[in-house]
Amino acid sequence: MKRALITGASGGIGRSLALKLMTEYELIIVARNENGLKTVQEDIEAAGGKVEIIMADLTLQKDRQRVYKNVPVGSVDLLINNAGVGGQSRFAKQDPDKVQKIIDLNISALTEICRHYTPAMKRSQAVINVASVVGFLPFPFISVYAATKAYVLSFSEALSEELKKEGVHVMALCPGATRTGFEAAADMQNSSVYSSKIPGPDEVADYAINALRRRKVVAIHGIQNNALVFLATRLLPRKIVRLVTHRIMSRSST
Ligand SMILES: NC(=O)c1ccc[n+]([C@@H]2O[C@H](COP(=O)([O-])OP(=O)(O)OC[C@H]3O[C@@H](n4cnc5c(N)ncnc54)[C@H](OP(=O)(O)O)[C@@H]3O)[C@@H](O)[C@H]2O)c1
Repeated sequence: MKRALITGASGGIGRSLALKLMTEYELIIVARNENGLKTVQEDIEAAGGKVEIIMADLTLQKDRQRVYKNVPVGSVDLLINNAGVGGQSRFAKQDPDKVQKIIDLNISALTEICRHYTPAMKRSQAVINVASVVGFLPFPFISVYAATKAYVLSFSEALSEELKKEGVHVMALCPGATRTGFEAAADMQNSSVYSSKIPGPDEVADYAINALRRRKVVAIHGIQNNALVFLATRLLPRKIVRLVTHRIMSRSST
């Protein structure tokens, strides 16, 4: 059976991806929270799937090395770099440690994990890097988070071209606001972006798996998000885009 390594699968989109991929792949799921990982493991095993859990804080080099030791190069058919954190705050007030953690996880860990596994990947194997719709736009009050997702988007598109010759597919998954633990972890509970009408993680995971089958490179979930990206990147001047994102975010930021 093929093997999939999914980071950040103790909840949210990563958990949904794991549950939906378990018929096709043996899974290795990684996150910090042991209870969360064990609960996902129980759910998967109860449904007949095979899963190994690795507790790791991916911002730490020693924990990433443990993942590499447990999951050898050449043994991963599908790599999903899903673990990510955000943080809403005026940049000048944002905790410097939090700023660094966002960069360490969303950029440094993702890049190092790709560098570790992709050179040995072969035809029909694949990578999903979870970016975000905010990666297309400058976003005041989540400025660092949005910029890390711009990195993930750009890096993944470039890598998809480099690995085309080897037949390895790379996809940047770009969800919009999704009902998961992200909102609380990013201090975004009061954000107008998280209205009641946002999708859950299962819908995003279904979309991602379908988009991977269709070999999409940039997969933006949802009609509204696609419209937003089209408007912001093809129609409106950047000056207007900045004003609009500032207005949206300042409603719930100080
Ligand atoms: N929800 C949204 O609105 C939204 C929108 C666009 C993009 N995204 C992206 O989607 C991805 C998944 O997020 P989600 O919405 O499913 O949020 P979530 O429910 O908070 O899940 C995030 C996952 O990342 C793990 N994680 C966080 N810090 C970690 C660390 N230092 N080391 C290892 N694992 C870590 C968490 O597990 P532990 O806490 O157990 O470590 C959790 O499993 C992220 O990359 C996020 O940026 C989310």
